[in-house]
Parts: sequence; structure tokens; C-alpha cells
Amino acid sequence: MIKFDFIKDYDFDFDMNELSKYEMTGWRRKCEDNLDDVYKLRDQVKSNSSVLVVIGIGGSFLGSKSINDMFSNYFKNDFEVIYAGYSLSSNYLSDLIDYLKDKDFSINVISKSGSTMEIKITYNVLKKLLIEKYGDNIKDRIIVTTGNEGFLMDEVNEFGFYKFPFPEDIGGRYSMFTYAHLFPLSFNIDIEEFIKGFNDGDNYIKEAYSYALNRYNLFNDKKYIENFVCFDEKYLMFMEWIKQLFGESEGKSGKGVFPVSTLFTRDLHSLGQFIQDGNKIMFETFIVVRDNKEVKHVNSTNNIVVDSVRSAHRQGGVESNMIEIDKLNLYDMGSLVKFFFYAAAFSAIKFGVNPFDQPGVEIYKSEIKKNL
Ligand code: PA5
Repeated sequence: MIKFDFIKDYDFDFDMNELSKYEMTGWRRKCEDNLDDVYKLRDQVKSNSSVLVVIGIGGSFLGSKSINDMFSNYFKNDFEVIYAGYSLSSNYLSDLIDYLKDKDFSINVISKSGSTMEIKITYNVLKKLLIEKYGDNIKDRIIVTTGNEGFLMDEVNEFGFYKFPFPEDIGGRYSMFTYAHLFPLSFNIDIEEFIKGFNDGDNYIKEAYSYALNRYNLFNDKKYIENFVCFDEKYLMFMEWIKQLFGESEGKSGKGVFPVSTLFTRDLHSLGQFIQDGNKIMFETFIVVRDNKEVKHVNSTNNIVVDSVRSAHRQGGVESNMIEIDKLNLYDMGSLVKFFFYAAAFSAIKFGVNPFDQPGVEIYKSEIKKNL
């Protein structure tokens, strides 16, 4: 069960017809994707590869990466899933090519538009490596997840790669429960339990609204920054996922709370001073899992730290919300994703902006295209 402790509790008085006016709300449906092909393709990849390289960026990357990080072991995992394409770091790509040279690997390339620059570039480099290793015999090693047109669709048509569809009415950052994330997640986690939690996530609509209203009112009180706090590096990528969700949903027309994230206790030794004692422009949202593996009372000590830090920051004038799970589990995480989808949508609508477009992202993309 998820527990919520918000700065203030607000009653639900949102007209759901407001949400229904928007087109890109396919994420509100229950996820009833046919998983047979997911499992078939997963088993095919496992039979000929020891590594899956997932190529994606933004909403086609952060979802599965964050859940994979959360549920994997820091050091040992049965099957290796590696991410690429989320930057243009040629150092990363060069090291990856070197690492993959002696491995059997397959690729899942994901892009709704099918033509995002970083994805095209990374895909072309890794496809070349596949051809160098396996000659023309690469049809079973490339799996494409994309919309109905674009460069990746051309690849599917020309080379006959397997294609998972990307729903037209779901935007990148709302796509956690589509093939874009469920396929890369299927290698190491029980996606059916995750889906079950998501499908029951509407139980938290009222809490999502109360949280959204807290954010909106804090913004009007000049708290322009929300610091998402976690206490384990495993959960840090989920903070990145939340940052994209809020940042792209409500950060437009001069509006929106700017989302940042910190890992405590690490960042208490760097940013703690500012949070406690500096400019009072922020509030915090703690996302806490209580019952982690215990190592000589380290987890219990950490739990005391969670409450003490929250109390200290409050005394310093930094209010906080708390979202808490007893023990990490896929069911609650699925529900929490739905909670955040609703919270971002409600929040953007309160700010008077469209939660489902991202005009700012398009502007820099076309500027790059002009200059390349
Ligand atoms: O949320 C969004 O729509 C964006 O962040 C996209 O996910 C991101 O730009 C990647 O786009 P695409 O999946 O088309 O490659």
C-alpha cells in the first residue's frame, strides 16, 4: 500500500470532463496489451544474446530504465539490459562498442516519431556493429518499437524487423504501460504484477488531485522549485522519470514548478546547506521505501535519518510531502506511476496549460536540424 502525507489535504473537486477534452489520454485506459509477443520476442533474444541494448531517449527511455534500476541488483543480474541513445556521448558509444565486441547482443530501438536524431545516430552505429559481427543475418536481432511513420518504420519495411506499435494517443512521457517499456522490462521483472498495480492505480485519483493542488498553491506562494528526494541510488532514475513528467507537462507559457532531485544522504553533504538555510524558493517531496535489505542496522538508521531530515528541513522553512511504500514491490510501483500521471495532468490543467504537448522540445529539435 502507498501512504501519502501531503503538506495540506484538499478535497477532490475536479471536473473529470476537463481531462476528457484532451486527445492524448490513452494512458487512462487499463493496460490490456497482448503479452504473448513480448514473451516470444524476449525468449528469442535470450536464446541468441546475453545483452539487450535498448536505444531510446526521453519518454522512450526513462520509464523502463527507472523501473529496471529499481528492481535490479546493483552488481549481479541474470540478463543484461543496457541503455544507449539518451545522449550523444561518443565516449559512451565507443566504450559500448568495445564492450559488445565479444558479446552476443540484440537491439530494441524505441522512438514514437521514429526519427529522433540521437536514436537514428546510435541505431546506425550499433546496426553496423551487428552487421560486422553477424553479416546479413541480423533480422532476429533488431526489434523496433515505433509509430506508423518515420525512419524506423522505413527500416521495418525494408528489412522486415519485428515491430511493436507505439499507440498514437499516448505521448512519450505517459507511455510506461506500452510496449516501449514493457518489452525491455520483461527481461528481468514480472510485468504482469506491474500492470495489475497500474490498472488499479485509479484508486489514487483523489490523492493525485490533492498533491497537484499542493504544488499549485505552493507555486503561488513563490515556491518555484520542487525537490524530489530519495535515499537510494536505485530510485534516482525514477526521480528523473518524474522530472520529465512534470517538466514537460506543465513547464510552458511561463508557468510550472521546476523539478529537481537529490539523493540523500549523499546530497546532504553538498546541497543540504542550501536547502536548510538558503533561499526559500523550494518545497520537497520525499519518495521513501522503508523496508529495504538490512545490513547491520543500516536500513533502520536510514529510516531515522529520513524522518530527522524532513523535520530539520521543515524547521528551516522547507515544507515537504511524503510518499511512502513499506516494501518495494511492482504492484505499488505500477499504481504510483498512474498516481503521477494523474497528478501531472491535474497540475498542468490547474496552471492552464496543455499537459500533453511539448512545444519547447520541438523548437530545439528543429533548431538542431537547421544547423546540422
Ligand atoms: O515525452 C515526449 O514526448 C518526449 O520526451 C519524447 O519521448 C522524446 O523526445 C523522444 O521522442 P521519440 O520517442 O519520438 O524518439
